[in-house]
Amino acid sequence: MDESDDAYLARRAGARHTPIGANLSARPLLHRLDPLDHVVRGSRLVKPISVALSRSSRQRGGMQMESPDISRKVTVAVIPGDGIGTEVMEPTLGILEAVGERHGLEFAWQHHDWSCEYYTRTGAMMPEDGLEQLAAADQILLGAVGFPGVPDHVSLWGLLIPIRRAFRQYINLRPVRLMPGIDSPLVLREGTEIDFVVVRENNEGEYSEVGGRMYRGTPDEFAVQESVFTRRGVERAARFALDLAASRRGSLASATKSNGIVHTMPFWDEVVHDCARDYPGVEVRDYHIDALAALFVLDPGRFDVVVASNLFGDILTDLGAAIIGSIGIAPSANLNPEGEHPSMFEPVHGSAPDIAGQGIANPLGQIWAASLMLDHLGHPQAAAEVVSAIEASLTSGVRTRDLGGTASTTEVADAVLRHVTSEGAAA
Ligand SMILES: NC(=O)c1ccc[n+]([C@@H]2O[C@H](COP(=O)([O-])OP(=O)(O)OC[C@H]3O[C@@H](n4cnc5c(N)ncnc54)[C@H](O)[C@@H]3O)[C@@H](O)[C@H]2O)c1
Repeated sequence: MDESDDAYLARRAGARHTPIGANLSARPLLHRLDPLDHVVRGSRLVKPISVALSRSSRQRGGMQMESPDISRKVTVAVIPGDGIGTEVMEPTLGILEAVGERHGLEFAWQHHDWSCEYYTRTGAMMPEDGLEQLAAADQILLGAVGFPGVPDHVSLWGLLIPIRRAFRQYINLRPVRLMPGIDSPLVLREGTEIDFVVVRENNEGEYSEVGGRMYRGTPDEFAVQESVFTRRGVERAARFALDLAASRRGSLASATKSNGIVHTMPFWDEVVHDCARDYPGVEVRDYHIDALAALFVLDPGRFDVVVASNLFGDILTDLGAAIIGSIGIAPSANLNPEGEHPSMFEPVHGSAPDIAGQGIANPLGQIWAASLMLDHLGHPQAAAEVVSAIEASLTSGVRTRDLGGTASTTEVADAVLRHVTSEGAAA
């Protein structure tokens, strides 16, 4: 750890949430401090996501220990979706099975063909009882949805957004880390490390159903879309991000636009700073979203944790994915931190119709997302092995076209699988 146990305990005492991103060596302290951190709810155990988030936390953590009370049987709903979603999902399941076998983890896959193709056949993106079916699973793995011929708002609001909302997946966690062997498109100053996490509010904000259109097709036509920011919604995102920052380098950047958006954004700022009073060890700084976007390009090394509203977080993380080399590598976790509902793990990218069916999609975003799931399930060592295997395969030069290589989806996934297996054999 970077700080003494006592300092960590003192800082942690003020935190109300389980700090996700705590490194492994902090875990025994969490056991002592807060028994609720280790409540097992089936395989929805809420555990700190650590290894998949931070290179430095893995370096500090050394050998990762798994708590003996973690459930070993995991039912995962699998929704490959559309386009390259179907291509990157299958090899990911093989990697999970390989790493699971060594860690005594048994996966039961519940396959769902819900997609735009399903919509074309049935008129809906998922069956009427789709959410009930998913509720029976411990976790959800999603590829991507969306395909030409079905409007994007239909595919998004017919599947992805209902899942995020019904299961109160109010945190969208997106690590932005430059992996070894990958060149950022940015010219980075000597010694700059890109290693930060974006916490995106995932249930409300700009993505609301409140609004409508009138006078369609006439010169008087207009559309109104209301943003919805609740104290509860902003506070839980802010506290999650503050906890995460407290367990990392102690710095939180809050994305705002309070100069131009005069009601919701000053409210966002106020709530974030109200919460921050409970975290004296975390330095909080507000950035207007336009300036923040520029700094992602000009000075990405300054960031540790970034908290943002639904829309701002969405846009920032595509930019984040671009600066770490490709959107094909970036992972995303839609978390229900309490573990009362399944969480959902997916790559940041979409269905990429322009390359679908060619076997050249980068599978690493999906595989890294699977590693976030292992970590969330309380299997940090298994998660670490998957991340190390991704790093090893990248370092060995096996890369898809988006990263400047020539390898196919299968060749990259096979390389990760080989490294997962050899790492396990070496352990
Ligand atoms: N979570 C989701 O399911 C999700 C997210 C974003 C977009 N979408 C949907 O996906 C469809 C396409 O959207 P888009 O083009 O804006 O975004 P996209 O992420 O699908 O593609 C953007 C660009 O990145 C490339 N790309 C994306 N993933 C890649 C990978 N794994 N390997 C190599 N290259 C990759 C694509 O070829 C494309 O050039 C739309 O229907 C959109 O609504 C879905």
